[in-house]
Formats: sequence, structure tokens, C-alpha cells
Amino acid sequence: MIVVTGATGNVGRPLVAALAAAGAEVTAVSRTPPAELPGGVRHRVADLAAPESLREVVAGAEALFLFPGGPAPAELADVVKAGGVRRVVLLSSQGAATRPGDYAFFAAYEQAVRAAVPAATVLRPSGFTTNTLAWAPSVRASRQVEAPFGDVALPFVDPADIAAMAAAILLDSARTNARPSAHDGVDYEVTGPEALTPRDRAAAIGAALGEPVRFVEQTPAQARAQLVAVMPPPIADATLGVLGSPLPAERRVSADVHRVLGRPARSYAEWLADFLPAFR
Ligand SMILES: NC(=O)c1ccc[n+]([C@@H]2O[C@H](COP(=O)([O-])OP(=O)(O)OC[C@H]3O[C@@H](n4cnc5c(N)ncnc54)[C@H](OP(=O)(O)O)[C@@H]3O)[C@@H](O)[C@H]2O)c1
Repeated sequence: MIVVTGATGNVGRPLVAALAAAGAEVTAVSRTPPAELPGGVRHRVADLAAPESLREVVAGAEALFLFPGGPAPAELADVVKAGGVRRVVLLSSQGAATRPGDYAFFAAYEQAVRAAVPAATVLRPSGFTTNTLAWAPSVRASRQVEAPFGDVALPFVDPADIAAMAAAILLDSARTNARPSAHDGVDYEVTGPEALTPRDRAAAIGAALGEPVRFVEQTPAQARAQLVAVMPPPIADATLGVLGSPLPAERRVSADVHRVLGRPARSYAEWLADFLPAFR
């Protein structure tokens, strides 16, 4: 049995679907039961912020996809270890490697999970293409995108690729069972196939819609005011740091998606084709 936490999110939903399609026995976990699940998948309610609520869910599982939820990574990792789970894929963030001070939350998760399950595989994604769904209301209303740092290029990743990586690793782990897997103890950097600027992404939305979409550059202060409405100020500042002054490692396109999946990472245009109705 493979347990998927964060099962209804951008990454978890396609991951559950991929595992179920491959014939795996899947338990999907979130705080709120989803309206729909692929056939054969069972759902369990649990709260990652209350690790005890996971104890019974993970007991005896072959493998686990761990969403970093809640403030107690060490307690959560202990519950996973006590359940005898040998294979863990942790969803982390590129920032854990590039800015461990700003992204200490993820660094703490990585450390706690590795201490409990040394063979755990860590996925460190760049920014998600789904973040640009925040532009959908203004694109629908006035064919306009407002964003800061219009000319700074970053290789945003399609969460479907993070899910595909996790599925490949979890299924390989299930196949190899107690034997070592090539993914044991590996940190993968998960990015898109090309670095695009916000201006490029706005143009791609216009091209997909067949109508021009205007790009309006926000000041960093305007962008910060929007971000602090949905995230704590230190995270907003770290996010603006990446968006405005990315480090060389944050601009880089990683080969890890291709390495694990044997195909290129999905492009922004491919992601957009799936999500275009949100922008119409
Ligand atoms: N967006 C980015 O650019 C980016 C980049 C790098 C890393 N990340 C990291 O990736 C993660 C986001 O992944 P995502 O986009 O797939 O998430 P998402 O779409 O926000 O979905 C979150 C999922 O986790 C569940 N969940 C949240 N808190 C929970 C809790 N306390 N207990 C149990 N389940 C919980 C949610 O369901 P319920 O709410 O029903 O519980 C849902 O299934 C975050 O950790 C984020 O920091 C994001």
C-alpha cells in the first residue's frame, strides 16, 4: 500500500491518479475528503500538524509521499518510522538547498525525514506553473497580467511532473521492496525545461487564447502587499528574493526530470493547454 499525503493538491491529485492507473493500492490523505477519487483509491482524514492522526494510516505502508505540513517534522518522521515505512518521497523546495536560512522550514523537514528514514528521496521543485493561476481573474476580466520582475527568467515546473517523478520513484520502491533502489537517499532538483520571464508567460497566455494579454509590471512593494495577504511576511520576502534576484542555481534548468522519467519536463505551453479554461 502506498500512502499519499497532500492528496488533493496540485501535486497530490495527479500523483494519486498516476499510482492508481499503475494498479497500485493507494490511500489518499487530506484533512478534507475530496468529492471524487480514482476508482479503488481509499481516503483517510488526517492532519499532518497532528502527527498522531497519521499513526494508524501509515502503519504497514510500503511507501509514503510526504507533504510537508505542520510544525513538527521530527514527530511526523518518528510516526513514519514507527509505522515501518521504508520508502519515503518528501516534497521539499529548491529553497532548502539554495537559501536554507530563508527556507529553514523545508531544511528541517529534510533533516528530520532523513534521520528517520535514510533512504528517503527528496524532491526539490522550483516555482510551480500553477502559481500563475493567480493571474487568471485579471486575464479573464481585462486580458491583463500584473506581476513584478517582468524580465527575470525562471524555470517554473509543472506540478504534474513532480507527481510523475514521485510516482516513478514510489512504484520503483514498491517493486524493489526491501532491496535498494537507485533513488535511495537522492535529492532531485525538479524544474521546468526552460527559464521564462513573467512577460514571456503573459505572452504565452495571450498566444494560447488567441488574443493579446497586456503585461503590467508591479513594483516590488505592490507585489509584497499582495503576497503578505496569503503568506507570512518572511516567506513573502523570500519568494520576492527568488523572483527578483534569483541565484544561478535557481535560474538553472535541471536534468533530473529527464533523468528519472526518460522524457523532457513539460513546458509552460503544455501546462497552459490543460489549464486554459481558467484564463478564458
Ligand atoms: N508553489 C510553489 O511555487 C512551490 C515551490 C516549491 C515548493 N512548494 C511546496 O509545495 C507544497 C504545495 O504543494 P501543492 O501545490 O500540491 O499543495 P496544495 O495544492 O496547496 O494542496 C495541499 C494539499 O495538502 C493537504 N494538506 C494541507 N495541509 C494539511 C495538513 N495539515 N494535514 C493534512 N493534509 C494537509 C491539502 O488538503 P486539506 O487542505 O484538505 O488538508 C491538499 O491536499 C508546499 O509545501 C509548498 O511550500 C511550492
